[in-house]
Amino acid sequence: MIKKPINVILDGDPGHDDAIAWVVAKASSDFNILACTAVNGNCSAAKAAYNSQRICALIGLDVPIAKGQDKPLVIESLKAPTNIHGESGLDGPELPLPKRELEDLTAVELMIKVLEEAKEKVTIVATGPLTNVGALLLVRPDLKEKIHQISIMGGGIKHGNWTAAAEFNILIDPDSADIVFGSGLPILMSGLDVTEKALVTPKDVEKIKKIDNPVADIVWQWLEFFYQFHVSIGYPGAPIHDLCAVLALNHPEIFTMQKMYVEVETASEYCKGATIGDINNIAGKKPNATVLMDVDREKFIEYMIEAIKSYSEGN
Ligand code: BDR
Ligand code: CA
Repeated sequence: MIKKPINVILDGDPGHDDAIAWVVAKASSDFNILACTAVNGNCSAAKAAYNSQRICALIGLDVPIAKGQDKPLVIESLKAPTNIHGESGLDGPELPLPKRELEDLTAVELMIKVLEEAKEKVTIVATGPLTNVGALLLVRPDLKEKIHQISIMGGGIKHGNWTAAAEFNILIDPDSADIVFGSGLPILMSGLDVTEKALVTPKDVEKIKKIDNPVADIVWQWLEFFYQFHVSIGYPGAPIHDLCAVLALNHPEIFTMQKMYVEVETASEYCKGATIGDINNIAGKKPNATVLMDVDREKFIEYMIEAIKSYSEGN
């Protein structure tokens, strides 16, 4: 049976791992990408939008692109240090110049347009802070009926990476994350529990180096940039966090998932931005999220490499 492609909006703050997630999504016939929207996070929303345009030019993705929210809904934005993704938000190899102008719409307006026009439900893949998605749900809650689910990279049940309690994407805008988790929509959460196991090693990078196409040539350099930073702070490889939010949709079998009730801490001094998952169902509340807890790393890398190879066949 031929699988129907999943309608998606790619929302992110690219970002090396966002970019790789988009490379893999574009390569697969499992996805029908309707738009890309950029948000403040790894860099400003303006830089993220420009990076989005350049990624789309690289991978031949001709869909509307819009710049989104410049700052979190309620609080002031933290500034991400430039040693992770660089000054541009996507430092490393030179990318092709944009082929498509930005839309004359904000990201939220573009999401509204896409959802209103969609004949079938749309999945939002959100790999940055959740400000665009939170704003969308605030202004047009009626459009929830057009959203199939929200697949996010964000949070961590057992730990954080920006504070002991909080992961970066959620810490940047906990109020938006709170809106998303409280929306009643199905949430697929790729948090640090799984994404820190989705590691790329130098051996994997070597395999990608050998692939002869322009996308592979950029991806291995992104990976090298990303790897250097992570190894310098003690990781055994580069966690390709955001790709989990894509592969969870078309290759769920490679992940271990657990349904649970997740709440976002928006206010406390030490725990702001924490995603508190009731992993043992202590409170007995109905789960609002499916949380990815583990991944078959070998398969994860296999799908990533397969997608990159497909650009040699004129994807
Ligand atoms: C998240 O933060 C960003 O640096 C990455 O792109 C990812 O979305 C991981 O905490
Ligand atoms: Ca990201």
